[in-house]
Amino acid sequence: MSKPVILTGLRANNDLTIGNYFGAILPMIEMAERRAGEFQINMFVPDLHSFTTPIDHDRLLEQILQAGRMFVAAGLPLDHDDINLYRQSYVPAHSELTWILDCFTGVGEMGRMIEYKDKSAKLGDDRVSVGLFKYPILMAADILLYGAIYVPVGEDQRQHLEYARDISERMNTHFGELFTVPLPLEKQTEFFGKGQALRIMDLADPSKKMSKSDESGKGVIFLADNPDEAAKKIMSATTDDKASVNYNPIEQPGISNLLQILALLRGHPIDDVEAAYKGQSSYGDFKRMVADEVAGFLTAFQVKLADVDDNAVISAFERSEKIANEQANATLLKVQQAVGLRPRD
Ligand code: TYM
Repeated sequence: MSKPVILTGLRANNDLTIGNYFGAILPMIEMAERRAGEFQINMFVPDLHSFTTPIDHDRLLEQILQAGRMFVAAGLPLDHDDINLYRQSYVPAHSELTWILDCFTGVGEMGRMIEYKDKSAKLGDDRVSVGLFKYPILMAADILLYGAIYVPVGEDQRQHLEYARDISERMNTHFGELFTVPLPLEKQTEFFGKGQALRIMDLADPSKKMSKSDESGKGVIFLADNPDEAAKKIMSATTDDKASVNYNPIEQPGISNLLQILALLRGHPIDDVEAAYKGQSSYGDFKRMVADEVAGFLTAFQVKLADVDDNAVISAFERSEKIANEQANATLLKVQQAVGLRPRD
């Protein structure tokens, strides 16, 4: 880990969405394309995180591989020494470090996590697992084992990233310099620019995040969706009765979300895209254009996806898991020594 590390992971609990793509995959790929050499890039599948909420376990293995394929289709190079692609459960140090961090984390601290509150409210008490409750601790271990300083994530993960900073500072205060503390969120936003801390909203209910675990999937564009079906989802997106296109997420969340998606698809700043369509009164025409762009994007993405060689993904997993185990075990040993589980040198 001689180079600074940029790291992110996407759970394989369901197919990935355009929210995942713009919130986390794209900022990571841009870094992999532009900055590998200067940074170590760790892209991983947090497979243990994938069943903090109930899933169909018969599909998990395939979904883990599919996540790997999608990263490659999005542009992750597999032939660069500084780019790692691995599965969390193949690096046992993640679970080991989690247990240690568990013992330095307050129950109240986890209970305050908004994602936990939201997800547990939806599930009902008897379906809320301990895993869901403490998943930010595993996420902190994912980050701290490699000393990652930059972690591109969507807005929903900001609080978890704050916790990763808190627990690393707390451990460093107790035990001396054990962990590299991830950079504060403002610094991350500066570094990643537009892609950091995004929140793409559900098309049917723009008051909530577009989520791959949404049960109906009506307001969610999955990267593997049939492009015509995806276009239909855009055409039936919930808007408002103002008959004027504006970027105003509070008053016009549906239209603002479509503007945001359009800006991301074109790679243009939201202000420019808003200026181009501001005041347009026909939502039908506006939606048609967004629908066409979404369909075009998915068609191109799916061509690349179909071209991905599974063996190349599996070999990248295996190669990277060797490296990840070495790096993670070195950090874990320092922690085990600090807490008194292993003799100090
Ligand atoms: P997960 O799998 O729920 O989501 C993966 C990434 O996609 C982002 N995202 C979104 N961004 C914008 N708009 C949306 N609608 C949207 N939906 C999801 C998420 O913010 C996330 O960045 N705990 C993490 C996975 C994880 C992780 C890590 C991430 C595990 N360990 C270590 C970074 C570092 C999660 O559940 O993400």
